[in-house]
Amino acid sequence: MQNNNVMFEPNPNGQGFAFGTPCVFIDDWIQCWRGERPLLDIGCGNGCNSRVALEAGAEVVATEIDESRLTLLQDDPEWGGRYGNRLSLVHALLPDAMPFDDNSFDGILCAEVFHFLRYPDVIAAVWELHRLLAPGGLLALTCISAKLHILRNTELEQRVERQKYRNPERLAGYMDYVQLLLEAMALRLDEPEVKQMIDGHIQKIPGRCFHFFLADQLGVVFERMGFELLTCEFGPAPHYPLIEHGPQDQVRILARKRVE
Ligand SMILES: C[S@@+](CC[C@H](N)C(=O)[O-])C[C@H]1O[C@@H](n2cnc3c(N)ncnc32)[C@H](O)[C@@H]1O
Repeated sequence: MQNNNVMFEPNPNGQGFAFGTPCVFIDDWIQCWRGERPLLDIGCGNGCNSRVALEAGAEVVATEIDESRLTLLQDDPEWGGRYGNRLSLVHALLPDAMPFDDNSFDGILCAEVFHFLRYPDVIAAVWELHRLLAPGGLLALTCISAKLHILRNTELEQRVERQKYRNPERLAGYMDYVQLLLEAMALRLDEPEVKQMIDGHIQKIPGRCFHFFLADQLGVVFERMGFELLTCEFGPAPHYPLIEHGPQDQVRILARKRVE
């Protein structure tokens, strides 16, 4: 059963973590529901966001690439059975395998998924979000920032900024996160909590890489692909499985699909 008291827990398929804290945009996402089209939760993890929307009475399609996670949710009497046909659990992969028609959703939540994507899958994913949203529909997205406080002494932000300056069109923040953590923590590797954090990341991050974003650069991609930006900013993410947090650890984008 989902445990809402934990900040994070490892995913059962060994890929990344799922969070026990709803997304900062949870209210915006739920308020999009107009009763006609369902809300979409991409990469739902342990379902902490979908659950809040379902409890509020919305219809939700929750997707995962992790089929074991979907089975867990489906078999949980507090989950699959509890919400009847207001909940659909679907195996789906962003950007290439999203089995839904155009304009199917009034609101899409994509919380902490984008950093798993490489360029150019990021670009394809933004197109896909645009395709799936109904005109006027709302996208709520959060992902890891290149300003991640714990990596501040690795010059990650400066590297991504330099790349942006050379070629603003190319999102080039896909890097070896474990290596960056080792670099950042080089003088503290003997500390048990540092060791535990790094071991957790070595085991749980597929390919060890994450895509670190700058809010303004990702925001421009959304604008060019037919979205109106409502919020495009950095913010804190105290639920990340890290021993230190900062005020700009997360990229946050709230955007509306333009009506042609
Ligand atoms: C860090 S968890 C976040 C879970 C949930 N959205 C939350 O905020 O608690 C990321 C989730 O995205 C899923 N995921 C990773 N890559 C994905 C992709 N390309 N398409 C869809 N989901 C993906 C993972 O299986 C994982 O459950």
